[in-house]
Amino acid sequence: MGTLHVLNHPLIQHKLSILRDKETSVKEFRELVSEIAGLMCFEATRDMPTEEVEIETPVAKAKVRRLSGKKMAIIPILRAGLGMVDGILNLVPGCKVGHIGLYRDPETLNPVEYYCKLPNDIADREIIVLDPMLATGGSASAAIGFIKQHGGQHIRLMCIIGAPEGADRVLKDHPDVDVFVAAMDEKLNDHGYIVPGLGDAGDRIFGTK
Ligand code: PRP
Ligand code: URA
Repeated sequence: MGTLHVLNHPLIQHKLSILRDKETSVKEFRELVSEIAGLMCFEATRDMPTEEVEIETPVAKAKVRRLSGKKMAIIPILRAGLGMVDGILNLVPGCKVGHIGLYRDPETLNPVEYYCKLPNDIADREIIVLDPMLATGGSASAAIGFIKQHGGQHIRLMCIIGAPEGADRVLKDHPDVDVFVAAMDEKLNDHGYIVPGLGDAGDRIFGTK
């Protein structure tokens, strides 16, 4: 069974409190999503393997550590996941970016796939799937399923706000996947929105409402 990590660092909590506020502007919302993703990436990559290499500083030879083995890929779930990409690329500029397009059917709440483009060597990469919201878990679970069908093997999920139903669903459907959230909220409402949540993440990132 995968592990649920709640990354409630004070800096993340502070930024999240502004993100949730309905008065926060689109510009600030977008910046905060990116910043929180960067802070979360710090924790979500904590166990990435490193290897010793020798370099020369201006003063002496030194044995230092660098990331080793598998390289990373991030895969935002379109569209809201796009808001998390830059925050991670700022820290890991060499990581590849795949895309999965899913939308949640408003009637059934079931995910519908409309786009998928992943790096060719996806099987060899440490993958972080990105989506700010983990509500019923349907979108994240389906996205992870598609990535596995394309050969992805080492997958983590990073969401800013989760609902218990969504985390349970992903951990049950994909016992090999660890889930990272900045906050675990109380519940879903009748429309499948996270309560208290932050509303519609995609609309708030892109200003479409
Ligand atoms: C939102 C969100 C997740 C999904 C979460 O996307 O970004 O992808 O809903 O809900 P779930 O856990 O119940 O599947 P939405 O379908 O609104 O699309 P968008 O990103 O294009 O706004
Ligand atoms: N998608 C969102 O953008 N927000 C929610 O609360 C649930 C799903």
